[in-house]
Amino acid sequence: MSITHVQLRKLFSDYWSHKEHKEVPPLPLVPPNDPTTLFTGSGMQQLVPNLLGEPHPLGKKLYNIQPCFRSQDIEEVGDNRHTTFFEMMGNWSLGTYFKKEQIKWIWEFLTRELKLPKEKLYITVFKGTKEIPADEESYNIWKQLGIPTTNIFKYEGNWWSRAGAPNQMPPGEPGGPDSEVFYEFTQIKHDPKFGEKCHPNCVCGRFLEIGNSVFMQYKKNLDGSFSELPAKNVDFGGGLERILAALNDDPDLFVTDLFKKTINTIEKYSNKLYSSIEYKAKIRVIADHIKGACFMVRAGIVPSNKEQGYVMRRLIRRAVVKMMELNITPLKALETICTEIINIYNTVYFKEDDLIKLRSIIGKEINSFEKTVYRGTKILQNQSSISGKILFDLKQSYGFPVELALELLEQWNKPVNKITLLQEYMEEFKKHKELSRSSSTNKFKGGLADNSEQTLKYHTATHLLHQALFNVLGDDVRQEGSNITGERLRFDFYLSRKPTEDEITKVQTIMNNKIQEELSVTYKIIPKQEALQLGAKSFFREKYPDMVKVYYIGNFSKEFCGGPHVTNTKEIGIISIYKFEKIGNNIYRIYAK
Ligand code: ALA
Repeated sequence: MSITHVQLRKLFSDYWSHKEHKEVPPLPLVPPNDPTTLFTGSGMQQLVPNLLGEPHPLGKKLYNIQPCFRSQDIEEVGDNRHTTFFEMMGNWSLGTYFKKEQIKWIWEFLTRELKLPKEKLYITVFKGTKEIPADEESYNIWKQLGIPTTNIFKYEGNWWSRAGAPNQMPPGEPGGPDSEVFYEFTQIKHDPKFGEKCHPNCVCGRFLEIGNSVFMQYKKNLDGSFSELPAKNVDFGGGLERILAALNDDPDLFVTDLFKKTINTIEKYSNKLYSSIEYKAKIRVIADHIKGACFMVRAGIVPSNKEQGYVMRRLIRRAVVKMMELNITPLKALETICTEIINIYNTVYFKEDDLIKLRSIIGKEINSFEKTVYRGTKILQNQSSISGKILFDLKQSYGFPVELALELLEQWNKPVNKITLLQEYMEEFKKHKELSRSSSTNKFKGGLADNSEQTLKYHTATHLLHQALFNVLGDDVRQEGSNITGERLRFDFYLSRKPTEDEITKVQTIMNNKIQEELSVTYKIIPKQEALQLGAKSFFREKYPDMVKVYYIGNFSKEFCGGPHVTNTKEIGIISIYKFEKIGNNIYRIYAK
């Protein structure tokens, strides 16, 4: 039997901790204080300030296994390699070791610890562009390790930044050449429709990328040129699911132990076989989406029409549609599917008790969606003729999915032209999108944190607000969440009674006084225990490492925080609290700008 995911986690952690790397606690699936992205999408996301030069409290050698969610991949799910939720195994060097060590160690981990067959591993390196030279250094290191040059490929695309290629990077963004390792599934025959010859970047399915070492050595300047970072970093990321697939020597992520039992359950409830080409994609969508929804429940998200809640709603609804297509009664299958997901990840992310919560939150959404479907079906049945506009209105007003509508029309033998309907539907969709293009749509792209001056200011102002709330309302205050965009800051807190308007005005006055006092903003890296004794504010929902960074604003505020911040409060300017509301039982929300 091949290695289980639990064994793989341990091999990875042991490997890096023996090399004196410290484990960085993973970011929550919804990154706190990051206005530009809905979900954590890579291991390096929390380390951007450190990759740009800020010291990290745990030192210069780090690793972790990071739960990630990429909402931009929702539509891709269905093939053998795309999932929305995945885990990234990462290691980092912050200005200490570089290409020579990283390449040697990753090779050693894959071939000696995991015992992946060397002859099935292929390497890619950066070929160079007009602006940036080829990465000959990495090429030569791989060669010296004994990899035949026929297995090393050079591509222009071997460059990584959160924004993509060098010309797509915004100023201030770090990036660099990367070197990937691919696994070759020799049982998959190359399909010439993708090109005459197969090679690692060919998309025929014979090759799968299992790891990527990014050599973060550049930063983009304001004028579009690149300069070398003061310290050169390594950012490695390897998909846990994909490495398991390589260990299985089977390119299908859905037959690894991270999915197998869920797939079996879906087979049982639908009475259909996963091996059947007709059902495979649908079964994968259900397995992926319900898992994604479970991890969202774990992250404290509930289905809604906004941001993370909206993505969760889409996941559940898409899964329900596929279940209906496979003749599964969603609410009946839900409990067993969730139980299997808990079993798969127990000891890592879930406990048995979590079932109640998973079932109730996901179940509630399924329930309301079933009602929608019922209503939508009635409306659809009563139409004398069907147009794309009708389908779009059903979607807009009732959330009734177009795929389902088309499926039903087919079942009812209504004479319609699917292609024309879809075209009309897309036209309506485009019209609507142009009307409602909102600033939040950018966030769905994910990943790109914005270290703009304005967000730094709001970040520091959030610390002022937090302390001012304590001063005015007492020790009972507890931070519940915070969110910053380029336009405003938002802060949620618990208080056992409703604050008065006067009190909120007082909070605002204190903040502005502290800004005028021109307090300097500094930080110290100290043991967690010591920071707690000092009374530094922490966010109780977050897990902190043994050594923590504490930001000081003069003598006024001390808070656990990774930064970055402005250096003096005078940079903030004037702050006004423009909205104050109750958002839950004893939970209040403040907006300020
Ligand atoms: N951050 C790099 C990636 O996502 C390792 O591929």
